[in-house]
Amino acid sequence: MAQTGNFKSPARMTSLGQGAELSAAGAVTGGKPREDGLKGVDFERRGFLHKVVGGVGAIVAVSTIYPIVKYIIPPAKKIKIVNELNVGKASEVPAGKGKIFQFNEDKVIVVNSGGTLTATSAVCTHLGCLVNWVDADNQYFCPCHGAKYTRNGEIISGPQPLPLKQYSARIEGGDIIISKA
Ligand code: FES
Repeated sequence: MAQTGNFKSPARMTSLGQGAELSAAGAVTGGKPREDGLKGVDFERRGFLHKVVGGVGAIVAVSTIYPIVKYIIPPAKKIKIVNELNVGKASEVPAGKGKIFQFNEDKVIVVNSGGTLTATSAVCTHLGCLVNWVDADNQYFCPCHGAKYTRNGEIISGPQPLPLKQYSARIEGGDIIISKA
């Protein structure tokens, strides 16, 4: 059905463009230029497209980078917690020496003092550096901030708040067995 009505009426023309005036020929003069009116529309479309492209780009980037990162960073090993563990040969820890072994989630230093083995957490209770056994002083020494511990892990001096955790160690068939104290 054809529309009827005066499409060039001043009232309609005015509503099309603020301040528009009708010329003698009936054309609208003044008012908003067409480009100005469309700029907002273009801007919104561009903004939308930018968001879509950005979103797709982000998805592609994540799906590309994630496998690479997973490949580079190996998954954390799940440590099996045990009561005791054969950590190696007795010959690995000669008299007067200490050697660090992994035991459960801890690093344990086994010290051989004249054939007697002791096992102590090697993780300093200050900030977690690994302690050394200093046989001449009969003590553990932390090289980071100078903490000193006795053979039994008790505090001698230094900034550490707690003694070292104790374990047991024995030799069985030429092997060193560490166990929970
Ligand atoms: S970490 Fe051992 S003294 Fe600070």
